[in-house]
Amino acid sequence: MSKRDAPVETSGQILDVTRMSAGYNGLAVVREISLTIAPGEIVALLGSNGAGKTTTLAAIAGLIKPMTGEISLRGTSTAGRSAHRLARDGVALVPEDRALFHDLTTRENLRVASGRGRGNESEEQVLEFLPELKKCLGRKAGMLSGGEQQMLAVGRALVGQPKLLIVDEMSLGLAPVVVERLLPVLQDIAAKLNTAVLVVEQHVALAMEVASRAYVLAHGRVVLEGATADLRSSQSLIAASYFGDLDAVEALTGSAETQHHPIEPETAKAP
Ligand SMILES: Nc1ncnc2c1ncn2[C@@H]1O[C@H](COP(=O)(O)OP(=O)(O)OP(=O)(O)O)[C@@H](O)[C@H]1O
Ligand SMILES: [Mg+2]
Repeated sequence: MSKRDAPVETSGQILDVTRMSAGYNGLAVVREISLTIAPGEIVALLGSNGAGKTTTLAAIAGLIKPMTGEISLRGTSTAGRSAHRLARDGVALVPEDRALFHDLTTRENLRVASGRGRGNESEEQVLEFLPELKKCLGRKAGMLSGGEQQMLAVGRALVGQPKLLIVDEMSLGLAPVVVERLLPVLQDIAAKLNTAVLVVEQHVALAMEVASRAYVLAHGRVVLEGATADLRSSQSLIAASYFGDLDAVEALTGSAETQHHPIEPETAKAP
């Protein structure tokens, strides 16, 4: 047997969030969130506007400090680690606004992310996943189309070969045809790099297609979670929780507590 050289992975998960509450100015906007992602897995975080999706991502990426609960990366608590440090430890966040340098070219945006020494190598790898960016290399990011900008934002996040890739509002403002192209890119990344991918996606149907599991947030709590194959059969439940209608969720389930759907053995397989 080959010896594992990775850090101790107590749970086999890349990310392990346990009863995490987080918010702003001492007020929690997400409460007691628990979620996990294994290497190579794509997980969707769904929920209506203001449900707390971005806040959850911000806490995971170290941009805000959780008020209670724990976040572990590869079995080790991230408490006290800055966003910068977490980025070096393999957490890459593609924020809602994409945060590109608009006056720099595509190539320069990728170079800034790669730091010293590894520029060409990482650029080549990014282009393998996103060949569409080749024709954009010399163009300023600000001049790219929305879809190209989103590809560049994902490409830039890929540069450090993240263990955990977090994408907020993947398809915001993009044409469906562009989204149809981008989501398989995430699948490719998860499969080939064994990266864990956490994606916030407004198009529930697309998210359900690309992710193996999903969590639905309503009013800052996880109200529904499970394998997407199982969640698809409870469409009305998703609709109710997606639109934050806790009364409807309660009526449908007999309880407003989190609904756990069994995870198919297939999605629990070893990496
Ligand atoms: N910087 C902030 N300071 C104070 N409150 C905030 C801040 N950012 C978000 N909030 C509040 O926290 C709640 C959750 O917001 P969050 O951005 O996490 O939701 P979201 O699910 O990402 O919504 P959307 O789908 O609109 O992006 C909202 O009520 C929002 O007003
Ligand atoms: Mg958001």
